[in-house]
Amino acid sequence: MKSFVVQSENTRQFQVVDQPVPEPLEHDLRVRVEAISLNPIDTKVRAGRAGQVLGWDASGVVEAVGKSVTGFKVGDSVYYAGDITRPGCNAEFHLVDARIAAHKPKSLDHLHAAAIPLTALTAWEGLYEQLEVKQGRSLLVINSAGGVGSLVLQMAKKLSGMTVIGTASRDESRAWSKAMGADHIINHREDMPAQLEALGIPHVDYIYCCYATEPHFPAMVKMIAPEGRIVAIVGAESPLPVGDLFRKKASFSWELMFAKAMFQTPTLASQGEILSKVATSLDAGTLRHTLNKAGGVLTANTLAEAHAFQESGRAIGKQAFWMREPSSAT
Ligand SMILES: NC(=O)c1ccc[n+]([C@@H]2O[C@H](COP(=O)([O-])OP(=O)(O)OC[C@H]3O[C@@H](n4cnc5c(N)ncnc54)[C@H](OP(=O)(O)O)[C@@H]3O)[C@@H](O)[C@H]2O)c1
Repeated sequence: MKSFVVQSENTRQFQVVDQPVPEPLEHDLRVRVEAISLNPIDTKVRAGRAGQVLGWDASGVVEAVGKSVTGFKVGDSVYYAGDITRPGCNAEFHLVDARIAAHKPKSLDHLHAAAIPLTALTAWEGLYEQLEVKQGRSLLVINSAGGVGSLVLQMAKKLSGMTVIGTASRDESRAWSKAMGADHIINHREDMPAQLEALGIPHVDYIYCCYATEPHFPAMVKMIAPEGRIVAIVGAESPLPVGDLFRKKASFSWELMFAKAMFQTPTLASQGEILSKVATSLDAGTLRHTLNKAGGVLTANTLAEAHAFQESGRAIGKQAFWMREPSSAT
């Protein structure tokens, strides 16, 4: 099968190689990958994965099932993010544990569906498992135009009826954040606490930080309400002054959507359930797709360009590619 492997360490180059089609393990689906999407994690792990296949967002068609799989059969269309400890989906065929996959939203083609899973799992787990948000409360989403922020905004607004404040610094990222459901937008490159004050919302009940945690931490301490909750999704490289939250009895937590699969937690199958709920909301029109850059059929060059764009720090929403010419069934 055609696979895109990282050519060598510290380069943004890919090589198309022929690899054997993998055999499903007990819980696996073997998926004929129709489309894939990119996330910053691809660029972050690339240097350490020379000769390996990246990619943790796919949509495709089941073509074989492991002996303990339930709920899926050959021919089903599925979408999923997968497991960072296993080979990625930038290949013609791919194995995924069926418990972290779901039936593809019927209203989206494979390209648009591939752009959803990783960011949807992150947004959902951060909002509902870590922050445990409540209807009607206020939420600040730092970096609201990125892949995760786009879905955090939508879920908080459309599924949970919250007052949602996004952050963006360019006209296009502000417009995108507005379209995703932000009630207000402030600029993360300027004094955020002062901008919240000016909106008449000096403190927020929740903060969802979708950008490097350390530089925004002091402002988050100022902006969080007493008894508020903060979740962050970018690991810190230096110790965080979490003690600064003590006076407000505010809490801080991490979200890492790969943790369930990486540690085979008892909650593993919740990821399949979350993706099913997200598919239902997409099909009902409550949530909308977040694809902003639709590529053609993936090549080694377009994959390298997509990595460069992701690394530019200017991505808005998601970018996705077809793995093969779309068939009439997609
Ligand atoms: N823990 C997890 O499970 C998990 C899951 C997914 C992603 N992540 C991580 O979360 C981060 C965001 O990923 P993503 O895909 O959602 O978005 P992304 O594509 O990395 O976000 C791009 C956006 O970042 C904004 N940005 C640039 N400088 C900023 C700053 N100083 N403060 C706030 N925002 C800034 C830009 O907005 P402007 O142009 O408007 O400035 C740009 O549109 C990445 O580091 C990724 O690795 C973690």
